[in-house]
Amino acid sequence: MTSFTISDNDLDQIKDQVAVITGIGLATLRRIIKHGGKVYAGDLNPLPEPEAGSVPFSKVDVTDWREQLELFKAAEKKYGKIDHVFANAGIAPTISLLEEDVDSSGDLLPPNLKTINVNLLGCLYTVKLGIHHIRRNPSGGSIVITASGSSFTRFPATDYTTTKHAVLGLMRSLTGHLYPQLPIRINAIAPSWTETGILSPAILAAIGEGNYQSADVPAQSVTVLMADKKRHGELVYSERGHFKDLENGEKGYHHLTANMLAVENEESLSELKVMRNLLKMRGAGEVGDGADGKPEVV
Ligand SMILES: NC(=O)c1ccc[n+]([C@@H]2O[C@H](COP(=O)([O-])OP(=O)(O)OC[C@H]3O[C@@H](n4cnc5c(N)ncnc54)[C@H](O)[C@@H]3O)[C@@H](O)[C@H]2O)c1
Repeated sequence: MTSFTISDNDLDQIKDQVAVITGIGLATLRRIIKHGGKVYAGDLNPLPEPEAGSVPFSKVDVTDWREQLELFKAAEKKYGKIDHVFANAGIAPTISLLEEDVDSSGDLLPPNLKTINVNLLGCLYTVKLGIHHIRRNPSGGSIVITASGSSFTRFPATDYTTTKHAVLGLMRSLTGHLYPQLPIRINAIAPSWTETGILSPAILAAIGEGNYQSADVPAQSVTVLMADKKRHGELVYSERGHFKDLENGEKGYHHLTANMLAVENEESLSELKVMRNLLKMRGAGEVGDGADGKPEVV
């Protein structure tokens, strides 16, 4: 767990790099452009002015694979490369699973999967497309996923919290598959309460002024994760303007849990052996030793 500050100088490293952003992420878009980077945005809703006149944009529903595929093609066509991807589109909770809603026969209806589809399926699509495009970029690049403070708490928004736990799992599980075997770093941000469109004025009033941060705070964390080539496998929590990587370092989640799956000196329980057996069982290929001893699918 490591607290840190972000300077303008840190963010200037994004100069001339190209980022694809889903879910507009207006503050991040502005940060990247302010520091000399370029953005291609995809969202259901159009960009506001003044960005509408200057930032390339495609109308995209992130739950539609074909629409996201076209977004990435359009971005690569426009700029000739993609350096970074920000998987950010997300919506508020839809269901709690406590609903007693029934059909005309009186049978219980299945849960509405809207939030699951946007926040999780949409993110999986974005990340797969990101890996595909960035691995072809000779300079490599990075993916940043928008997780949340609800990714590791009992935040009582059933489907929303489930998706945010899941996207944190996505970042964690991909960490060993990507850098350094592939020139792709992956990180996540976990903003605490932030003043954006997802929180109504009534909710913001209930949280109370001083207890939420401006959207520029998580925007800085996204930009530094893209710009700083040392950052990989981080979960950057931001709260009222302060930043902390919760994943690495002493007392970080990874430090506390690493030995649970990879028991030191016990090959029978090692992460590598379990992975090898799992992948053999589903006929997905062999697992070899990664450069640093981590599992690597070959
Ligand atoms: N605001 C907070 O307190 C907070 C805290 C933690 C995490 N987050 C996360 O931040 C991310 C961005 O949300 P925000 O807070 O800026 O809210 P927002 O509502 O302002 O932005 C979300 C954006 O996603 C777009 N979107 C929604 N469904 C889409 C779809 N199917 N396809 C394409 N675009 C779609 C919306 O049009 C909107 O522009 C979300 O993943 C959210 O869960 C927000």
